[in-house]
Amino acid sequence: MRLMTRKNCLEKGFGAVFMAASLFLSGGAPARANPAPVPTLDRTQTAYLTHCGGCHGIEGISGPTFVPMLRDAVGTFACSEEGRKYLVQVPGVSMSLIRDDQELADVMNFVLFQLGGKSTPSSTKPYTTAEIHEWRQSPMSVTDFMERRAHILQNAVAACQARKPT
Ligand code: HEC
Repeated sequence: MRLMTRKNCLEKGFGAVFMAASLFLSGGAPARANPAPVPTLDRTQTAYLTHCGGCHGIEGISGPTFVPMLRDAVGTFACSEEGRKYLVQVPGVSMSLIRDDQELADVMNFVLFQLGGKSTPSSTKPYTTAEIHEWRQSPMSVTDFMERRAHILQNAVAACQARKPT
């Protein structure tokens, strides 16, 4: 299902390129004056897409699977220090093949501030390279993962509520 979405997206992308190319080749004036924009991704988005998107979806929407939704959800964890740390310690992040800490910090900030959307409180500080470096060294490896996650999330939700101006 996720793969299909990605495939469709790629097909659409190629379709747009193909259309633009054929219009260009046919010499149509509108195609030259106003070529269809070809979407491009920056380095961080490409890293997310390659290393995370296969499981979490290219827009952070993983659908009804055991992979948690990032889109408009993940930011809640950022309300607590424990939650911030947790997001870096999950195996997919801490043990990511993105070995460069600065690059992983960029990807995690993309996850928090772009994918997290409104779930990320405005006072959230971006991850620093030093935080990523330190926290990824202790990957989460527990048998009661879902219980632990629920507990961290519960604390984070309470911390978010305490932060809200009254
Ligand atoms: C092989 C599939 C897979 C890949 C690749 C992967 N993840 Fe995950 N991710 C998961 C699963 C499954 C979980 C739930 C925790 C667990 O079981 O490890 C998770 C949990 C998370 C969480 C915690 C979210 C929550 O609500 O608890 C974050 C944040 C996250 N991943 C981000 C990333 C990022 C960023 C990358 C790329 C650097 C990545 N993941 C790569 C499958 C993956």
